[in-house]
Amino acid sequence: MKLATNINYVNKLNFEDYKNTYDSISSHYDTLMLDGYYDYDSLCDSLNNLLPINSTILEIGVGTGINIEKLVKKNSSRKFVGVDYSNSMLEICKFKLGSEVNLYNEDVAELNLGKTYDSIFCVGGVWYFIRNDNDSFQLCSHIPDDNRNLQSFHAVSSHLKKGAKLILSIQGPHNNYSNTLSNGVIYQQIITKIENHFEKKYIFKDGDNVINSQVCLYRLHEHDDAIKMFKKAGLEFVSLDESNQFFIFKKL
Ligand SMILES: C[S@@+](CC[C@H](N)C(=O)[O-])C[C@H]1O[C@@H](n2cnc3c(N)ncnc32)[C@H](O)[C@@H]1O
Repeated sequence: MKLATNINYVNKLNFEDYKNTYDSISSHYDTLMLDGYYDYDSLCDSLNNLLPINSTILEIGVGTGINIEKLVKKNSSRKFVGVDYSNSMLEICKFKLGSEVNLYNEDVAELNLGKTYDSIFCVGGVWYFIRNDNDSFQLCSHIPDDNRNLQSFHAVSSHLKKGAKLILSIQGPHNNYSNTLSNGVIYQQIITKIENHFEKKYIFKDGDNVINSQVCLYRLHEHDDAIKMFKKAGLEFVSLDESNQFFIFKKL
């Protein structure tokens, strides 16, 4: 059972306090995600419709490779590449996907693969849109610093062919809750709003004992500001996809 409680608010912010990688919780990541955190089957059905066949596709923030593993099974004509800066997430990804998928341990802000792709997508990171309860949208970025965020938009844009699509997932708002996972581990998340950011604590417990935890700081951008920032980097908003699970941008 999920227990939603109120979100906390504090007034301090120091980017240096946050590492923002997923290394300390990678061993619990798939259990948490595949227990229903995201509906990957539905997301990948839509991605399968959106991604061109016989194409090269880059996933930014590939994590443990859940999306690519599903997409490869749906259509083997695409060549996938993944980028992530959490080494232990990539280790799990490599184990799953083998040598067919090239994986790069890179921070997207510094990305320079020397190639362009037919499509780039993100599910849950580095960027995604949040659909709020009043149906307004905000962009959530895993990169808390605005200049570095903009630098990352440019880096991603430079890896897309002209006219190619950047596809970003949409998810619901974050709440505080606690939940028992299928392996008996208790997952708790605590959200604290800080100025235009929010801090998210991921806590995994065996009874009362904390087994693993992680704290990340994410930046929230209002919808219109986000659309302008993408445009500055040469990425024009096109539409939501038919399933309303993705924002689609086109490389100008
Ligand atoms: C919530 S996970 C999503 C993983 C995967 N896309 C999925 O759907 O399961 C976010 C991932 O983005 C990665 N990430 C966050 N910021 C990044 C950055 N600046 N450069 C590269 N990877 C980043 C994290 O390491 C993490 O693996």
